[in-house]
Amino acid sequence: MSNRGNETVTEAQIAVHWQEEKYLYPSDEFVAQANMSDADIYERFGLDNFPDCFHEYADMLSWYKRWHTTLDTSDAPCWKWFVGGKINASYNCVDRHLEAYRNKAAIIYVPEPESESHEVVTYQELYVRVNEMALMLRDFAGLDTGDRVTIHMPMTPDLPVVMLACARLGVIHSVVFGGFSGKACGERIADSGSRVLITMDGYYRSGKMLDHKVKADEAVQIAADYGQHVDKVLVVRRYAGQYQSETPMIKGRDYFVDEQLAAFCGKRVDPVELPAEAPLFLMYTSGTTGRPKGCQHSIGGYLSYVTGTSKYIQDIHPEDVYWCMADIGWITGHSYIVYGPLALAATSVMYEGVPTFPDSGRPWRIAERLGVNIFHTAPTTVRMLRKSGPDEPKKYNFEFKHMTTVGEPIEPEVWRWYYDVIGKGTASIVDTWWQTETGGFLCSTMPALHPMKPGSAGPAVPGIHPTIFDEDGNTVEEGSGVAGNICIQNPWPGAFQTIWGDRDRYVQTYYAKYCRDSSSTNWQDWPYFPGDAATQAPDGYYRILGRVDDVINVAGHRLGTKELESACMTISELAEAAVVPVTDDLKGKVPDVYVSVRPESSPSKNLETAVTSAIETEIGKIARPKNVWIVPDMPKTRSGKIMRRVLASISNGSDVGDITTLANPEVVEHIRQMVQG
Ligand code: WTA
Repeated sequence: MSNRGNETVTEAQIAVHWQEEKYLYPSDEFVAQANMSDADIYERFGLDNFPDCFHEYADMLSWYKRWHTTLDTSDAPCWKWFVGGKINASYNCVDRHLEAYRNKAAIIYVPEPESESHEVVTYQELYVRVNEMALMLRDFAGLDTGDRVTIHMPMTPDLPVVMLACARLGVIHSVVFGGFSGKACGERIADSGSRVLITMDGYYRSGKMLDHKVKADEAVQIAADYGQHVDKVLVVRRYAGQYQSETPMIKGRDYFVDEQLAAFCGKRVDPVELPAEAPLFLMYTSGTTGRPKGCQHSIGGYLSYVTGTSKYIQDIHPEDVYWCMADIGWITGHSYIVYGPLALAATSVMYEGVPTFPDSGRPWRIAERLGVNIFHTAPTTVRMLRKSGPDEPKKYNFEFKHMTTVGEPIEPEVWRWYYDVIGKGTASIVDTWWQTETGGFLCSTMPALHPMKPGSAGPAVPGIHPTIFDEDGNTVEEGSGVAGNICIQNPWPGAFQTIWGDRDRYVQTYYAKYCRDSSSTNWQDWPYFPGDAATQAPDGYYRILGRVDDVINVAGHRLGTKELESACMTISELAEAAVVPVTDDLKGKVPDVYVSVRPESSPSKNLETAVTSAIETEIGKIARPKNVWIVPDMPKTRSGKIMRRVLASISNGSDVGDITTLANPEVVEHIRQMVQG
């Protein structure tokens, strides 16, 4: 159960009623080649061996200086891992591979237009480009260790180059998803205090060159409104020397990256030896209030965790060609396109565009051509590919040994298509549950150790010890199948360190709910509360039921209902707005928007359109609502709270439950008829 004021969301409403499925086992060939097939790992990572068990991950990296304290809890719940250690993430993802893998592909970039050939960036080439970029950032843009820089770039190889260049200097990068609006980018620039914005002129989406630079101008303006001055905008060009945007460059502020790099051609800069617990990056994510949270991730802990989980759970070997179809602008891309795979010297594939462009055979042509053998995507994409080209995978000659799903629950039926048709009945699948905050996986099967069970994420990964609590902090019996709030009992190295500039919010949101003693420096007193409901089956597998807060997971993209509502409220004719999640066949969940107008205004089709475009400009197209309903009044409690639960039931065609205690029960039937006809 979750309470939001008077609005009670019951287990039944959040639960997904899938039956327990039968196990499927990994093939012998998979097990024989797997990085981790030793069941003792769970003992090694047991609470008895905590926190030193995580040396196993940290030892996968190269350190300038070894840590003296594995876990420092003195500033609980801001955990510090590998204290005393000195490390550099760029060195670990690039330089250290040169000896063995200099001419091996680090990144293979596939442009969206099929007429353009793919670009192979070897480890040597990555090394050269990261060095030049780092020097440009340092000597031209004036960035120094500890400075923040906002990067608003789509999928281009320059994006990981810029990230690794920042990491080389200890500059903290904050990558904003390219599809986010200029406004959303500007707010993140302001919150992080960035005075440099790195952006791009344009990129391809569904065959069209989109103007991206236009968003930079808006972002800089918005940041200025918040009091944050941006003095340099560095523009990467999709084609060097050929500016793709209609938007003018502003003299003295905007610079083309390809032109500035010329001065640093062939030059090198040593990676800075940084404390393990220094921040590597910020990644903004949505929460209960409108203001996005800058999740701060460390260098040593984060990199250890994503490297360890990439090796054992993604089963990445240096010989593998690994393709994660996420965008680097999300945490999945940071951890499992850039940092994890590159730390392991793998080949990581990046695709610029839309998976179904020009047709739904595209991903399979890419996989066939590049010899991809590990594939990673979200259930939404699987549903989309299944709908638009159910037989396409069969037409191409590719073979995945391993596949991942991430970001939302995957229905058993969709899972089975993934397994049978994309995986050709031989690939091992892992369903990985985790969050922006957690840096890496929390629950998943170990692909060579556990059977797969469609519709369930699996047990906790090594070193993660969940408990399910009820609202009052009682432990729900293990394996009982009873829903509650899943929490993690112990810290782990991948966990974010704090919310940038807002430690109170960090403590409140993630730890206050189940903290046993707020003055304690024992980690045992601070269970981590991720905000998801879950059940655990008798076999120990967890099934994630969804968010218990005001977050909607649209096609695997995390949006706060409050952010959407405040976007609507920029329209002056509106009196109120309420956003609820609606189940969608393809995207999992999509927002339905309910608005009421001020007495002096009247409902109109134009107003509906205005709401949609307000959301697109304030947040981005990914947040576009399914429906905009203009209602005479919102269903409210007597204390005046909008009953979003009732609106959600109407949108989803389910029973509205008891509404007799509402202040205005009659409006419910009116809205129901309007929505359901
Ligand atoms: C949801 C994405 C079910 C969950 C990595 C979580 C999932 C939120 C799964 C985090 C999964 C993620 N099964 N639900 N395998 N993975 N979620 O921060 O609600 O974008 O809290 O991180 O996505 O979304 P975020």
